[in-house]
Amino acid sequence: MSDLFSKFDDLIAMREGLLSNGVTDPFNLVMEKVESPTVAICNGRRTILLGTYNYMGMTFDPDVLAAGHRALDEFGSGTTGSRVLNGTYAGHRAVEQALKDFYAMDHAMVFSTGYQANLGVISTIAGKEDYIVLDIDSHASIYDGCALGNAQIVPFRHNDIEALEKRLKRIPPEAGKLVVLEGVYSMLGDVAPLREMVRVSKDNGAMVLVDEAHSMGFIGEHGRGVAEAQGVMDDVDFIIGTFSKSVGTVGGFCVSNHPKFEILRLVCRPYVFTASLPPSVVATAATSIRKLMDSADKRAHLWENSKRLHAGLRQLGFQLGTDEPQSAIIAVIMPDLETGAAMWEALLDEGLYVNLARPPATPAGMTLLRCSLCALHSEEQVGEVLTMFAAAGRATGCIS
Ligand SMILES: Cc1ncc(COP(=O)(O)O)c(C=O)c1O
Repeated sequence: MSDLFSKFDDLIAMREGLLSNGVTDPFNLVMEKVESPTVAICNGRRTILLGTYNYMGMTFDPDVLAAGHRALDEFGSGTTGSRVLNGTYAGHRAVEQALKDFYAMDHAMVFSTGYQANLGVISTIAGKEDYIVLDIDSHASIYDGCALGNAQIVPFRHNDIEALEKRLKRIPPEAGKLVVLEGVYSMLGDVAPLREMVRVSKDNGAMVLVDEAHSMGFIGEHGRGVAEAQGVMDDVDFIIGTFSKSVGTVGGFCVSNHPKFEILRLVCRPYVFTASLPPSVVATAATSIRKLMDSADKRAHLWENSKRLHAGLRQLGFQLGTDEPQSAIIAVIMPDLETGAAMWEALLDEGLYVNLARPPATPAGMTLLRCSLCALHSEEQVGEVLTMFAAAGRATGCIS
């Protein structure tokens, strides 16, 4: 019998090699207690959280928690069914209305995760005869959506407007075309030139889908994302988002003004053939989304945090993913995986949690220490973070 696991041998060897040096497994950390959106207990120690997607700090918001408790009491712990059968409760409709109000759009469809939103929408609207033109650094859920729908995939170089245009011009003019972009790319924290890319896509007869997972709540005047900040909301056909980042719970969605959008509820398999979100989850999401509409002060503070951390890390001598802070994600580039893992552990020992990211999730084979800021990090906490980076960086030889 051939062992179907033999294809993982290289990865198993790499992992064992890393752990045999005595480092803590960076992909197996347990949060023993979570005290707030910015502090948890890990390995028995108070740890500042700088590697969550809790950009707007909504996970402990009292109104959000109260809505969740109420829904748990009134509707129970789960729906035990698909949205198209017994799984649509008043709360699912309410969160879809909150999304329509948040984005000022006609339609909103909620999925059980952001992964499923990309999987479902992309695979359903772009089939075998259609072309999907996508940034090569797109999230795995976008690639999986393309694969599920069996569309022709045409990748282009990251954030390269000319490359996008060239690819589009090579596709037969009569073919169905979908351009898939992200507002913020989550590994380096860089923003897409959406204004130009959306124009090029429209000029070449393509529909446009933008995944705003890492920008919702924070970027744009109303927190609608990069499409809002760059003034192209009216030209984007579909926006995909998630509740697992700024909204502070779990779930995914697509909003659109397309007049035939609602038919997706009958034909989109990752929407139809899975259970709907629990009532407590949709209640927390709806409350959080409505509060995010009115969070300009938090957005301003988060920008301050991002600028402070970016400038401080640069001053210490770290190499960063972007020249300027472009989002709530600041990526620190490590020379290799071993140094990255050592630095990650040194930071954890100091009392700081960041994400260690490595290929294939990262572009160009990079190892990154990804810092994601929260609107509730105080100025003092950002100062503490910089002190810890300085100490860990010197201890591991990353900086002098
Ligand atoms: C760009 C992007 N899209 C989609 C997702 C999936 O979101 P979820 O965690 O809700 O499945 C992620 C998650 O990290 C993401 O980064």
